[in-house]
Amino acid sequence: MPPHLTADLQWPDRWSRQEAVELAGDYEAVPSGRSWTGKILAGWGLAGLADDVGLVASELLTNAVRATLAGGGASPVRLWLLGGQSCAVLLAWDAANDLPRRGDAGPCDERGRGLAIVDAIAARWGWYALPPQDASATSAGGKVVWALIGTLPFSRRRRSQ
Ligand SMILES: Nc1ncnc2c1ncn2[C@@H]1O[C@H](COP(=O)(O)OP(=O)(O)OP(=O)(O)O)[C@@H](O)[C@H]1O
Ligand SMILES: [Mg+2]
Repeated sequence: MPPHLTADLQWPDRWSRQEAVELAGDYEAVPSGRSWTGKILAGWGLAGLADDVGLVASELLTNAVRATLAGGGASPVRLWLLGGQSCAVLLAWDAANDLPRRGDAGPCDERGRGLAIVDAIAARWGWYALPPQDASATSAGGKVVWALIGTLPFSRRRRSQ
């Protein structure tokens, strides 16, 4: 289970399938993490989510690696994938203490679109900072950025009520 899973995502019955991977904090992590999500989703019978999850993984990992390298650290980055019936949650951790900032990229800006892409794809997404020293030793500060992709079970239930 990812560290300090935010209360919004604590639906244990929905996340019967969980996988995690740790990758070196360099740009190789981006294609590696993307292909890792594709393989896991295929194994779960959720290959239909693979393109969207892969794109989100690329954006979150690029940000995580960029923040890690900017901090001069040699820290790894971590990914978790939680599988529901028709949705998945991707969580990406990095050790940098800076937090994501939603930009307002103009037409001529070359940067500042990654989180807008995540926002367009994900049903829900967000981030949370971790305490500097996690007692479980699964983190040393930093933050988790997460995105839920696919159809939320509780949305279906609400609509049918
Ligand atoms: N994991 C992270 N750690 C620290 N800061 C982050 C992280 N993710 C995003 N940010 C901050 O949020 C800003 C916006 O991120 P976003 O992905 O939208 O744009 P970008 O990475 O600057 O450009 P692009 O994704 O278009 O190449 C980043 O410039 C960075 O300052
Ligand atoms: Mg980005």
